[in-house]
Amino acid sequence: MKKVYVGMSTDVLHHGHINIISAARKLGEVTVGLLTDEAIASFKRVPLLSYGQRKKIIENIKGVKEVIPQETLDYAPNLIKLKPDYVVHGTDWKTGVQKHIRYRVIKTLKGWNGKLIEPEYTKGISSTQLINEMLEIGTTSEIRLKKLRKLLELKPLVRLMEVHNGLTGRIVEKAKIVQGNSIREFDGMWESSLTDSISKGKPDIEYVDITSRLHTIDQIFDVTTKPMVVDANNGGVPEHFVYTVKTLERVGVSAVIIEDKTGLKKNSLFGTDANQMQDSIENFCKKISAGKKAQVTEDFMIIARIESLILKNGMEDAIKRAKAYIESGVDGIMIHSKEKSPKEILEFCRRYRGFDKKVPLVAVPTTYNEITEEELIKAGVNIVIYANHLLRSAYPSMVRAAELILKNHRAQEADKLCMPIKEILELIPGAK
Ligand code: SPV
Ligand code: MG
Repeated sequence: MKKVYVGMSTDVLHHGHINIISAARKLGEVTVGLLTDEAIASFKRVPLLSYGQRKKIIENIKGVKEVIPQETLDYAPNLIKLKPDYVVHGTDWKTGVQKHIRYRVIKTLKGWNGKLIEPEYTKGISSTQLINEMLEIGTTSEIRLKKLRKLLELKPLVRLMEVHNGLTGRIVEKAKIVQGNSIREFDGMWESSLTDSISKGKPDIEYVDITSRLHTIDQIFDVTTKPMVVDANNGGVPEHFVYTVKTLERVGVSAVIIEDKTGLKKNSLFGTDANQMQDSIENFCKKISAGKKAQVTEDFMIIARIESLILKNGMEDAIKRAKAYIESGVDGIMIHSKEKSPKEILEFCRRYRGFDKKVPLVAVPTTYNEITEEELIKAGVNIVIYANHLLRSAYPSMVRAAELILKNHRAQEADKLCMPIKEILELIPGAK
């Protein structure tokens, strides 16, 4: 009996997969190399069903002898172990992200005269297409809430982008690029106090209150499925924070970040130019504990944001606070800096790595923007937040268009800054 290997990542099974397995079983005994959750997350998205659930399904397909884990996108490690006579895969991978993987399969098989068999790809159907259709249907609060913890489990770095309305929510939901072997997209959204306030023409001083923020969150949730982390400023007094926690959790927000400042909040990026006070460790820990007691599920996360570096209160203070906040039960630490260089953040990360008890670490590289995601991963950061880039990139273009119309007494010159009418009409499905 010949040995046949089929690599699969799918969690949405369709007749195209069955066609592949049928073709494979005609050649011999079929082993399916099922990509692990980590492997799938590394090049596209977190699978809808877990490895265990997917294994159960694939094992029960007629003609599948065995299902083994494939831990990398690369087939080679499993192929070298099994030395199959055939690998079977649809023709779809001849182009696109999987092209390089295919070359490596052909090269590896040559080692023992194995062959790659490529049945014609079943037209008109793909898991990605089915998943996109499912995403268009929407999600529920509970499913969305759980997504952040799942991402933290499976990805070395969770990538969040700022949102402040439905449209920016759609951008973060949809933006996607193909790079090398992987599809890169944002994992979730940061509901920033800065951009939520500024987009309403208000200063970032907690004037845009939680009721207004909830309206915005609802608007964003209405048109997206990705998880959200909310910037709740300093969380208010503990008596108010407990209500904020319950409400955010109920609507399906995955995490809230509160900063250890008191009084009228000013944006961190003012640093010591604005009159800002840091809370006492004792008070802030009480607020964290009150919040943790208020949440209903195990899934909701409360993340403490340390402002010691922003307020020039020193590295020792930042470290002391991180330890105290972790002791009080916080689910994550955000360390903030407004330095141009990532030096102090990297120093914090180095010290943080030495802690006995650690929780996920969040960084917001707005000013120290030279740092790459690869460097953040190396430093031990688990969540990166691009905190204001959609609003900051849109605003100059809007001002420019307005000024061009004023200057030219007509709209023609502004058109080069604008997307085509046809495109905006068709931007949101269902317009026609
Ligand atoms: C926000 O986006 O509102 C933040 C991050 O809190 S920062 O603006 O850097 O303070
Ligand atoms: Mg803020």
